[in-house]
Amino acid sequence: MRVLSLELDQFRNYAALRFTPPSGACVFIGDNAQGKSNLLEALALLATGKSFRAAREADLIRDDAPAASVSARVATRHGEIQAACIVARAGEGARKRFFRNGRAVPYGQFLGGVMAVTFIPLDLQLVIGPAGLRRRLLNAGLAQTSRAYYRDLAAYGAVVTQKNALLRASGAPDRDLLLTYNEQMAISGGRIASARAVYVRKLASEATAAHARWVGASPEFDVAYRPSPALAEETPEAIEQALRAALEANQTLEIKRRSALYGPHRDDLALSLGGLPLARFGSQGQQRTAVLALKAAEYASLHAAAGEPPILLLDDVLSELDRERRHAFLSSLGDFDQAFITSTDVPDMPATLRGEVVRVRAGSLAIENAAHA
Ligand SMILES: Nc1ncnc2c1ncn2[C@@H]1O[C@H](COP(=O)(O)OP(=O)(O)O)[C@@H](O)[C@H]1O
Ligand SMILES: [Mg+2]
Repeated sequence: MRVLSLELDQFRNYAALRFTPPSGACVFIGDNAQGKSNLLEALALLATGKSFRAAREADLIRDDAPAASVSARVATRHGEIQAACIVARAGEGARKRFFRNGRAVPYGQFLGGVMAVTFIPLDLQLVIGPAGLRRRLLNAGLAQTSRAYYRDLAAYGAVVTQKNALLRASGAPDRDLLLTYNEQMAISGGRIASARAVYVRKLASEATAAHARWVGASPEFDVAYRPSPALAEETPEAIEQALRAALEANQTLEIKRRSALYGPHRDDLALSLGGLPLARFGSQGQQRTAVLALKAAEYASLHAAAGEPPILLLDDVLSELDRERRHAFLSSLGDFDQAFITSTDVPDMPATLRGEVVRVRAGSLAIENAAHA
């Protein structure tokens, strides 16, 4: 998969950008705050429909402009597609609209057209950071490859928000309403957890293999799904039942704690090396290698699901890695069609990677030279 052209209008610090990216590696270099990450954010928006960093989507719109737009022509194995997203100010916030080949489409249908794997510095915390980061890893892969998953996740998230609001309101909560929420959580939650169980198995085998390629087969890196509540079975129906039972059994506890305590919004991954939890027992180097194995596995899974290499977006992560890890990681993704990489200096990359260096200065781009002859 490869971006043939990118257009930004009133997006972040780009007034109007028309850019024809090279195939292979496209390295954006420049000082801080020039707009390097903004470019990756725009590309990721076309893959996931979301910013990888903005809490407020109105922040994507340049200065006082009424709307921002991002549009790209992308070559895929199914032919060329055009994907676009318009973010318009609406009251205090913003409203997004999605387009495929010039036609407005719902978010759910927009997903899966452009596929990207995004690697940002926050991902370096995947082992030691909060469980939310690990759920984000699962959601990024699953939402791009399954519309049903995205729909379930959106529905589930909305119910959890409503349920928490009910539990936090003063006075005794309406039990019937609580039951209705629990029922909705059990249905969409069963499907989410089932999809995650299957995905984690694929991710785990890829991650274990990548890790073994880099540092040898022993000690083995293992990734296991830790669903909430713990599950014995993997079919959506069985999980739905288990979730329904857990929510019923813990109703009093949830009312007392005033919080939704069980369900996929509390899922986690167990990451271990030689059977020991990496977050507690791993050295910093071991934890970092595990993170790279997880990201390489995400890439391999999306690659397999799409039937072609996804676009790779690396925001300021290469400079965080030592030379050996950087080379091992990049070599393991060696077959990518296109990667967008940001860095303050030209990063040292394996000689086999073709590419171009593009300097970013205050929202404008200039091709510098070929990264490698
Ligand atoms: N909505 C916006 N309107 C105008 N400029 C913005 C907006 N959002 C961010 N910027 C500018 O973008 C720049 C940061 O871009 P970024 O891509 O994060 O930089 P870097 O090159 O360090 O990755 C800053 O100068 C910031 O002021
Ligand atoms: Mg940046």
